[in-house]
Amino acid sequence: MRTTIQDILKMKATGQPIAVLTCYDYTSARILDSAGVPVLLVGDSLGMVVHGFDSTLPVTLDMMILHCQSVVRGSKNALLVIDLPFASYSNTDYPGTLKNAARGLAEGGAQAVKIEGGARMASVVASLVGAGIPVMGHIGLTPQSIHQLGGYRMQGKDEGSRKRLLADALELESAGAFAIVLELVPADLAKHITERLKIPTIGIGAGKDCDGQVQVFHDVFGLYEDFVPKHTRRYTEAAQSIRDAAKAYMSDVGAKKFPEK
Ligand code: KIV
Repeated sequence: MRTTIQDILKMKATGQPIAVLTCYDYTSARILDSAGVPVLLVGDSLGMVVHGFDSTLPVTLDMMILHCQSVVRGSKNALLVIDLPFASYSNTDYPGTLKNAARGLAEGGAQAVKIEGGARMASVVASLVGAGIPVMGHIGLTPQSIHQLGGYRMQGKDEGSRKRLLADALELESAGAFAIVLELVPADLAKHITERLKIPTIGIGAGKDCDGQVQVFHDVFGLYEDFVPKHTRRYTEAAQSIRDAAKAYMSDVGAKKFPEK
């Protein structure tokens, strides 16, 4: 039985921290699900860490659905959240947004969608929730708006933007979001937002006082070597282990030690 939205809300109510990891494929899903990770996010960060793009913008809904289907096949217990990718949703195209979000659930097999944006997306959240589609919000650094934001940097640094971020969070909650990702938001502001909301906040680079944390698979397991975000912690150095293992394999093949008789 998969984790439900109600379980997530109960975790906030009872003060149980929520660990979320991104996941993009069957094999990783098997590992994370068997470890008991309660929420897996099929994030559009896959555009960078799996496909090698320099942003999330080239990711399409078809790509997201293909990855999500493989995560579904590899998991039994986790709540699966699929990112709606760049330009697949908007507050000026409700029918198109509903169609795409519904594909995330009906074709992708996710239980919820995540969309980026605050108050300007509240009406979109309300219409999706009204259609039976659970929505996770995402505010602060929203990578799909990278060209508007001008870089991957901390948000909410001045009084005006702090107020806007709090208002964004409150509007998303009122619209029916079941959780909100806070990305690159000052820790004191994230704590304040967390205390004001009944729904959980899931932080990434937003300090320890959010209700949960989300990290990118390739960052925490040491697979992505192009760039190491300051907010991550390497729990293993998988890239180095794989490189060492590849060298051992080549050496065995070269010395005719593999395969054995
Ligand atoms: O795509 C992603 O991995 C995300 C997380 C960073 C929250 O949106």
